[in-house]
Amino acid sequence: MAEKIAVVTGSNKGIGYAIVKGLCERFDGKVYLTARDVSRGKEAVKKLNELGFQPLFHQLDITDQNSIDKFKEDVLKQHGGIDILVNNAAIAFKNDARDPFSKQAEETIAVNYFSLLRVCNSLFPLLRQNGRVVNISSSAGHLSRIPSEDLRKKLGDKSLTIDSLSRLMEKFVSDAKVGKHTEEGWGNSAYVVSKVGCSALSFIQQRLFDNEKPCRNISVNAVHPGYVDTDMTSHKGHLTIEEGAAAPLYLALEDHGLKEKYVWHDKRVVDWYGETPAIY
Ligand SMILES: NC(=O)c1ccc[n+]([C@@H]2O[C@H](COP(=O)([O-])OP(=O)(O)OC[C@H]3O[C@@H](n4cnc5c(N)ncnc54)[C@H](OP(=O)(O)O)[C@@H]3O)[C@@H](O)[C@H]2O)c1
Repeated sequence: MAEKIAVVTGSNKGIGYAIVKGLCERFDGKVYLTARDVSRGKEAVKKLNELGFQPLFHQLDITDQNSIDKFKEDVLKQHGGIDILVNNAAIAFKNDARDPFSKQAEETIAVNYFSLLRVCNSLFPLLRQNGRVVNISSSAGHLSRIPSEDLRKKLGDKSLTIDSLSRLMEKFVSDAKVGKHTEEGWGNSAYVVSKVGCSALSFIQQRLFDNEKPCRNISVNAVHPGYVDTDMTSHKGHLTIEEGAAAPLYLALEDHGLKEKYVWHDKRVVDWYGETPAIY
């Protein structure tokens, strides 16, 4: 039988790095640490080597189709498939960022939604039987975080397609470009819209996998890793990166039978369509 393969995007630091570390400890197979920047990636691999772990490394910039294609080609050639895909890479503008909101909206949606989609479109054909996909969303990715009821209805519609979801994401960006995003009901956080997009996409992906023939029994779940001490939170998060990796590792490795779920850092399944959960 082919050796099992796990891939984590954006894993040179933060939660992604801790997910790679946890997979090296617990996964019976090879683990790819990937990074857009080769030297940052290799530095992270070196740190893990010093701890006694041997992850593989590959450059992977999720915004760059050539980089994704090269990764796909190499994985296919060397291993023939993927068993676990953790979509972790993302960006967040700081609260005090001076970039115009239109730019924040465009870049955030481009990375956190469209690049996530691009990676999935490219790598999903490589997923093997019983494969697992873990999409790192956020508490910000709960449906209730979108103020407009009409938009919530559209985003939470169980017959929503990836094309219509992508059009909604594009609409947010164009509304932001003309300064109408609040008026149009999106609220004022590009990160929220991108992570709601990530959650909604995960559920559509699961429904598509459920209907594929032959069925590979792939599971897709979205997860909020908690408020974690990383560069993204300017180290204000109260959880360690290992604690932030716990729920993603649970979804990637354990025998939980979960599909199409939105899971919290304490492994609770949270109703994505319901009220905003009390604890972030
Ligand atoms: N920290 C939290 O409290 C928290 C809460 C909820 C959800 N999350 C989510 O958890 C995930 C990890 O966040 P984190 O806190 O660990 O963030 P982080 O410390 O900022 O790390 C983000 C990682 O993504 C990588 N990345 C960014 N753009 C990329 C691209 N185009 N291609 C490939 N890699 C790219 C970064 O690489 P570089 O080093 O090259 O920039 C870095 O390795 C994200 O999806 C985030 O939205 C975090």
